[in-house]
Amino acid sequence: MSFHWINAEAFSINTLLLMDRWILNYLIGLSPYGEGHYACEAYRAHLGVALAYHPAVRWYFEEKCPESRERVRHLVEAAPKGLTEREVRQSELLLLDEIDSFVVYAYPEVMEGLSYTAGWDPRRLTEMTDFTGKTVLDIGSGTGRLAFAAATKAKWVVASEPVDRLREYLREKRARLRVKNLTVVDGTVQEIPYPDNAFDIVMSGHVVGDDLGREVAEMERVAKPGGVVLTCIGEDEHRRTPDPALLRLGFSYTHHVSRLGGDIYRYLKRVDKA
Ligand SMILES: C[S@@+](CC[C@H](N)C(=O)[O-])C[C@H]1O[C@@H](n2cnc3c(N)ncnc32)[C@H](O)[C@@H]1O
Repeated sequence: MSFHWINAEAFSINTLLLMDRWILNYLIGLSPYGEGHYACEAYRAHLGVALAYHPAVRWYFEEKCPESRERVRHLVEAAPKGLTEREVRQSELLLLDEIDSFVVYAYPEVMEGLSYTAGWDPRRLTEMTDFTGKTVLDIGSGTGRLAFAAATKAKWVVASEPVDRLREYLREKRARLRVKNLTVVDGTVQEIPYPDNAFDIVMSGHVVGDDLGREVAEMERVAKPGGVVLTCIGEDEHRRTPDPALLRLGFSYTHHVSRLGGDIYRYLKRVDKA
């Protein structure tokens, strides 16, 4: 599903060459969360054209992600022969538009300009709980919307991010803003690279949801007893109701209407390990 986050015309198919292995796995339907886009026949056809008509893209998939080889071969064989340059580009555009959420990870400046981040008020996070003097983990930090907001008050913030280009961006941003209390690390919500009870506050925004029960359990594992787990999305236009799955897991919420007319729910849970 496209989020309509990019004008695909502005992007080369070589953007795929900037993607991490776990994203390639996602694109080719080998993610632990299921087939995703790959379940759609039209999507597979566009990916097949990109792989068949761009040897470097095919080579990158096969070298970076050997587990994709069989699917790559199958897609390439199924791609129509003799397409014109224009037809190939048409397929590329449809593919890039469909995977726009991954395309922006390769272009952090574009990601930082998206509506959920641009103009977001950092107080939306810092009013949720007291960050003063706390150690904080931000999971799936992206361009650091939450991590840099927390760093204005916290003792230390760890920004954890599985995309290499975004980790580079976070480090550049940290230097540019002269932030001294923020560390950037690799990591996913499925396997947080820290021991039990390591943080006062464990937070995320637009990250959890694929396997909510396990993701929240992993966030709680690294939170100290009496600590806080929270999720704080940005400002968008989506109308929503409270998430029953998060409520069942013991989260409470606050609601406001964003400047774009969306329902924004922020969720918080105090971790009780007694
Ligand atoms: C839509 S962005 C949100 C970025 C940031 N949290 C924010 O709210 O501004 C989603 C982020 O989650 C990261 N991500 C994707 N899958 C993840 C996973 N399994 N564990 C941790 N982070 C993940 C992506 O790399 C991306 O930076």
